[in-house]
Amino acid sequence: MIKRRGMLIVLEGCDGCGKSTQARKLVDALNTTPREGEGSLGGHVTHAELWKFPNRDTAIGRLIDEYLQNKCEMEDHAIHLLFAANRWEMVPCLLETLEKGISVIMDRYAFSGLAFSAAKKKKLGFQWCKIADQGLPRPDLVLYLSLSSLEMEARWNKKERDGTMVYIRERYEKVAFQNQVQAEYGKLMMGEDNWHVIEVNNKSIEVIHRNLLNIIKDNVKISTEKVIGKLWL
Ligand code: TYD
Ligand code: MG
Repeated sequence: MIKRRGMLIVLEGCDGCGKSTQARKLVDALNTTPREGEGSLGGHVTHAELWKFPNRDTAIGRLIDEYLQNKCEMEDHAIHLLFAANRWEMVPCLLETLEKGISVIMDRYAFSGLAFSAAKKKKLGFQWCKIADQGLPRPDLVLYLSLSSLEMEARWNKKERDGTMVYIRERYEKVAFQNQVQAEYGKLMMGEDNWHVIEVNNKSIEVIHRNLLNIIKDNVKISTEKVIGKLWL
């Protein structure tokens, strides 16, 4: 049998759209999918890991965490570059993981970096924002969860951190800003063949999950046979 790499699957969307819940469910589903026979992915996906950006556990990630919790201020370009650096520092490990045949479900990636920074509109241009992430491993699939602004706000008031519910709002959790973020995502997905938009308003977690899993199943063979690409190059 040909040795196949793992898939790189990114979940994107505004704050509160359900990425983290869906990412966890996808990892569980892929890890329990039978390797052969009915319902299997034909032996293509055998193991999956959950990754998340920002990765708040590294030294760079700790700075980002303080910024998001409004514990410190940072110049807009500088924080943009830190978010990008937080991805680059994980690239060797990411490539190694994919090479081993393990798929990665990624809760946010460079598209968040671009959409959130470009939404600031003050000084950061769209093209400037792209440069720091150019050349990162290109995801096989970007699953974009689209949520209306009305539902968005209701969801932010609940947030789980280390197993407990907290009720703090982070820096970017404001409706007007998130609307701008969604507009920036709109620019990013134009002309891309690996993006899929999933409307999540009024849909159950299960329905959305099955929707996402079907998209993965439809793409798994093509993706794992291709060499991983480079983003925006
Ligand atoms: P988020 O995934 O929402 O973390 P949590 O689930 O803990 O709330 O990410 C935190 C915020 O960081 C979110 O508002 C989006 C923003 N962000 C950027 O501005 N740039 C980036 O590159 C990334 C990955 C996230
Ligand atoms: Mg958030």
